[in-house]
Amino acid sequence: MANTEVIKPETLDELIQALHKIFESDNINVEEVQDLMESYESKPQEWAKFAKFDPYRYTRNLVDTGNGKFNLIVLCWGEGHGSSIHDHTDSHCFMKLLQGQLKETLFEWPKDKAQGEMVTRSQRILQENKVAYINDSIGLHRVENVSHTEGAVSLHLYSPPFDTCQTFDQRTGHRNRVSMTFWSKYGERTPFETTVSKENN
Ligand SMILES: [Fe+2]
Repeated sequence: MANTEVIKPETLDELIQALHKIFESDNINVEEVQDLMESYESKPQEWAKFAKFDPYRYTRNLVDTGNGKFNLIVLCWGEGHGSSIHDHTDSHCFMKLLQGQLKETLFEWPKDKAQGEMVTRSQRILQENKVAYINDSIGLHRVENVSHTEGAVSLHLYSPPFDTCQTFDQRTGHRNRVSMTFWSKYGERTPFETTVSKENN
């Protein structure tokens, strides 16, 4: 499937250019994208302008809209910050650790009409520079920075882009559709939006 030679990107800009090239095709090879993102060695000065932390919850910061094919987003996780359990709206989701570590917990989709504790399938710690992948056929996940002393920064690619997803209550499996917003776009703080939203990814 992979017909393009993946050349190691030396900078975040080179990574973005290489991603644009891959996503010109409508057939996405997950492993190729994963390898490409993993081959970029995170250098904080290259993504610092997107890495904006909030004291109370994690932030989503838009880096690039991939010619309409994908969204590339920097997420900043303060100590103890975590997402809800969520799905990915039938998109591919790639998640690369730029700094620190994140815990990913995988869950099964709740069975129809089932009301009860959601089933945990696995848990892992994602290490710096590594790239995780998930989509709706794999399951649902929760992402957390469990550190009490270090922030974490991750780079997420979603294709096709989406702006709502479902969140799930771990105790009951009950779901909600939520809108996702950006704390900043292209390094600039997003003006205050009146819609109250829960942000997830
Ligand atoms: Fe996610």
